[in-house]
Amino acid sequence: MSFTVAIDGPAAAGKGTISKAVARHFGFAHLDTGLLYRAVGKRVLDGEDAVAAARSLRAEDLEVLGLRTPKVAQAASKVAVEPEVREALVDFQRAFAARAGGAVLDGRDIGTVICPEAAVKLFVTASPEVRAVRRHKELLETGHDAGYDSVLADVRARDERDRTRATAPLKPADDAVTIDTSHMTIEAAVAAAVAVVNKVRGA
Ligand code: DC
Repeated sequence: MSFTVAIDGPAAAGKGTISKAVARHFGFAHLDTGLLYRAVGKRVLDGEDAVAAARSLRAEDLEVLGLRTPKVAQAASKVAVEPEVREALVDFQRAFAARAGGAVLDGRDIGTVICPEAAVKLFVTASPEVRAVRRHKELLETGHDAGYDSVLADVRARDERDRTRATAPLKPADDAVTIDTSHMTIEAAVAAAVAVVNKVRGA
């Protein structure tokens, strides 16, 4: 039987870490749906048409190197505004969610659009400043030296675009549980997410 955990929220709020940990804890598969948009964004930077890229996307494309750069993130946020791009990526995500044994999907519209029937919906958020500090540290660790101010500006620009787009904007589903990780350790945030899933599973 399928059991879907939908985890949405803005960039660098801790979604990825929480999603991976929840998936590991319960033995569920995990899909970082941002990678779909990043893969399309990257192909657009390489000169392809966004809709054509989205329609021809395959699982292997998510393993392409270089999807985690700030430039590709901005390109992803731009292609994600296009309804036809989003539409082309729906089936892939729903098929993943329906797999036997449980699945965690993280993104922006999983609980609202992709899996409105998900068993568990989490909205993981944090203040823009805290997210910029985390992203800045992450970038430095991976050898991308960008100043804090430019990272914060980047976070705000992406938030604005993701929240105000007409199709599937970033927002919590009505029945989502919000976890604000601004003042939480990773361990505490993961424990909070695991507790929500356990409650639904009746454990
Ligand atoms: O989660 P991320 O930072 O890798 O996502 C990159 C961009 O892709 C993000 O700015 C918005 C878009 N995105 C989306 O619109 N819907 C999703 N489910 C996931 C990502």
